[in-house]
Amino acid sequence: MITLRAVSTGLAEGRAPLKVVWVKEGALLPQGEALDARLAGLLRRALEGAGLKAGESLLLYTEEGPVLLFGRGEDDRESGGRLAQALLKLAFPEALVEPLEDAYALAEGLFLGAYRFDRLKTKREEKALTLLLPGVSEALLERARRVAEGVYLARDLVNEPPNLLTPEVLAERALELRAFGVEVEVLDEKAIAELGMGAFLAVAQGSENPPRFIRLRYAPEGARARLDLVGKGLTFDSGGYSLKPTEGMATMKGDMAGAAAVLGAFKAAALLGLPVELRGYIAACENLVSGRAYRVGDVLKTLSGKTVEVMNTDAEGRLTLADALAYAEREGAERILELSTLTGAAVVALGEEVAALFATEPSWGEKVREAAQGAGEKVWPMPLEEAYREKLKSPVADLKNVGDRNGGAITAALFLAEFVRVPLVHLDIAGPAFARKAHALGPEGGTGFGVRTALKVAEALAG
Ligand code: BES
Ligand code: ZN
Ligand code: ZN
Repeated sequence: MITLRAVSTGLAEGRAPLKVVWVKEGALLPQGEALDARLAGLLRRALEGAGLKAGESLLLYTEEGPVLLFGRGEDDRESGGRLAQALLKLAFPEALVEPLEDAYALAEGLFLGAYRFDRLKTKREEKALTLLLPGVSEALLERARRVAEGVYLARDLVNEPPNLLTPEVLAERALELRAFGVEVEVLDEKAIAELGMGAFLAVAQGSENPPRFIRLRYAPEGARARLDLVGKGLTFDSGGYSLKPTEGMATMKGDMAGAAAVLGAFKAAALLGLPVELRGYIAACENLVSGRAYRVGDVLKTLSGKTVEVMNTDAEGRLTLADALAYAEREGAERILELSTLTGAAVVALGEEVAALFATEPSWGEKVREAAQGAGEKVWPMPLEEAYREKLKSPVADLKNVGDRNGGAITAALFLAEFVRVPLVHLDIAGPAFARKAHALGPEGGTGFGVRTALKVAEALAG
């Protein structure tokens, strides 16, 4: 647990069990300089030859009390994240932290870096850490805290194991957002069938755990724009009869990271009171193997009316999303931002840190790209290459659900684009949604990728 508080006294004069001073290439920032002056240059002398790199630290016991010299990197958010992780390992309950140039990014980084997922451990250490930030506004800290609440929710949902977070439980988690003023409706199997979501139901039919379709609406008075969010909600993806190898299945509890980002964005938007109407759609189910599971060769009727031949049961996300996207459009979406852990091919193309961005309309794509950049989330534009559309031709149905191995992230995106006419941005977050090891902004596991971008997009639309 981490608490951030704004204080008016500077780093040099303030009192706390620990003071944190930033260092880069041996140089201090102004408040650090002021403290160093009080200490007659002790900090500088300690730094000489120490060659402190980003994330490295030096703890000094001075006559002004303990001082932690901490190496900052290029990115203020990441510096904050690294500092929070380091402080949680030390025994100080409270520290005065010198602000960085981008105080907001620092605050967000401190919150994100302090995230832990230990609710399933029987022995867990409850550590409370309070950080005091001199000269920073309370409003800025409160904003960072609300954004982080959204990211924490998304991370928790991704980290929860698939035996505990079934489609029904995911829907219950969505319903909890009612407490924050979000309208939430959950459709059961029968309602999903009556609507005609044949593709979504086919993916879901192999599991004993029934699917749920989740609709969210956040409509504050005076909303200045509308944004529709769609998230992939596979609470577990075994691949189905096109079964994944064991290693490939290891992170598939996280195949609902798109849905988690949508829920996180709703929570934060409501906490922040963003003046934008948000709608959200999640088709939640599991992709399993059983005597009732869908097969390779099945032909499905989607909500849009188009038929799809299943040529690989592991390309299930696009089937669930086809129906969710068509539903969003039917509900009057003007523009859609869709997030999904859709393809391994996106990870091959861009690695584990960068999401692939596909847009059916350039200006909408550019808006999302700019928002992601502003939010500190890495995305890169990819082409919706028309020439590859023929890879999705089926001899028996309107479309098949896979192309060949080449350009797999692109054919997946082209498939989604078949189901909507309004401007669509598809973010393939298969890489950055799940961290295989600890990183600057958090531990291994769910990253909450997409929450901050979705919020920034909403803000940009509000103008
Ligand atoms: N959920 C996976 C994609 C994925 C892979 C997410 C790795 C995160 C990490 C998706 O449902 C899938 O299995 N896609 C297939 C598509 C293929 C069969 C065309 C893939 O990427 O292999
Ligand atoms: Zn799959
Ligand atoms: Zn999947």
